[in-house]
Amino acid sequence: NQHLPALLVIFGGTGDLARRKLLPALYNLLCDGLLPEHFAVVAAGRREKTTEQYRSEVFTAITAYSRNAVTAENWRIFQPLIHYVRLDFLDVAGYARLHSILEGIDRRHATAGNRIFYLAVAPEYFEPIVQGLRDQQDPAECRGWKRLVIEKPFGRDLQSAVRLNDKLSAVFSENNIYRIDHYLGKEMIQNIMVLRFCNSVFEAVWSNKYIDNIQILLSEQAGIGSRGGYYETAGAMRDMVQNHILQTLSLVAMDPPVSLQPDAIRSEKLKVIQALEVFTPAMVAENVIFGQYDQGMVKDQQVKAYRQEDKVAADSVTETFVAMKLYIQNFRWSGTPFYLRTGKRLGSSEAKIVIQFKPLPPVLYLRKQPLEQPNALMIKIQPEVGVCFQFSTKNFNSKEEIVSARMDTGNVSSSNGNTPEAYERLIVDILRGDTTLFSRWDEVEASWAFVDRLITGRRLQSFPNYAAGSMGPAQADELIRRDGRKWWD
Ligand code: BG6
Repeated sequence: NQHLPALLVIFGGTGDLARRKLLPALYNLLCDGLLPEHFAVVAAGRREKTTEQYRSEVFTAITAYSRNAVTAENWRIFQPLIHYVRLDFLDVAGYARLHSILEGIDRRHATAGNRIFYLAVAPEYFEPIVQGLRDQQDPAECRGWKRLVIEKPFGRDLQSAVRLNDKLSAVFSENNIYRIDHYLGKEMIQNIMVLRFCNSVFEAVWSNKYIDNIQILLSEQAGIGSRGGYYETAGAMRDMVQNHILQTLSLVAMDPPVSLQPDAIRSEKLKVIQALEVFTPAMVAENVIFGQYDQGMVKDQQVKAYRQEDKVAADSVTETFVAMKLYIQNFRWSGTPFYLRTGKRLGSSEAKIVIQFKPLPPVLYLRKQPLEQPNALMIKIQPEVGVCFQFSTKNFNSKEEIVSARMDTGNVSSSNGNTPEAYERLIVDILRGDTTLFSRWDEVEASWAFVDRLITGRRLQSFPNYAAGSMGPAQADELIRRDGRKWWD
């Protein structure tokens, strides 16, 4: 309730994202008392339907996907906030009509001219929509703020991202552009800074002096479902590495920011990406493994190969898996390898970061043999949410036997019962005007510059090269084994 009044316009209001994530998140915010007192939603979609019809679809969606049960009382409050407008995103004239409808709803709900334009549409509509909004902007009108929220993909390489950004920034200033990376809304991703900067035991050892290697895993058992059309143009590198993985990496590796202001944090994150090694094609060949899934068994079910999925070419060379080793070339991290891995149709669905500490010298207890299990800090992002620290201790009944023990917060989300979802946090931040958890343009630009080199330096391998249900191609295991290390699986 402390937020400013706002009118949220969702372009793509009938789409999957709106149904599964945005509307349920809004309903949850209402249940938690976090929606502004003066608030309304306008869903703009291409289909013809009435607001009444749309509201009943919203009811179905929030019943299916929101973490709070839909009660008659809350629905009575939520329902009248929602409106539907038909809009063909490519029809220039439609934006004038939209504008006048928004004016009316704005007056009715007393939303003070504040608008959030949320682009939950396919990327080909980003530019036409922003152009349409621009045409309706009245320079004399200074009532309220206007914010643009944009979902990925933000371009498909550096050049297209620059072009898109030019178009957006001709209409919205950088401070008013919220580039969503929903990983930044996840509880444990936000917790990275607290773990690092509120614990003397961790911050003191957070560098190449004490850390042997860092691993980031974002694995999924799911395949690409009905998203073959999009995924064929993307692949794991664009879909996961350019955004979620590099954002996670930058939070893990950044220097302490000078303050908690959004730009102080984002400037430190940017420096990490700028300090990534410049990959030549030879380095790509040596340190980056691309994979594509074959048929196999996942959760006891036989599943198709990627090439047999809907809207996927029978000879597709799109990668559904990436594993890589990289270095950050700065004082803090030089010499400490980062191993990153992500893929579809893997043996587990898990997101985690593992900080593995260096071994101790081979003296005293370790004279005869090194510890089998090193010290490690595990940041569990999902499905379990929590932190686990692995250390060594004496086996209580033996004289010298050393065993490894774990201090584990357990699964924080299951003990809390009802943890807010990433989108809830992100929407609250947009309402408050806090850009901390959104990628700034220069971060996106630097990420694309890095990823472009990995994509252009790639040599085609023969695909498919891993069975669905495995942990990726054998070369990915070799990538880490050759360094005398292994994946934390
Ligand atoms: C999206 C990708 O950004 O993230 C999807 O486009 C992927 O391909 C998803 O499945 C993973 O998100 P989460 O929150 O389920 O880990």
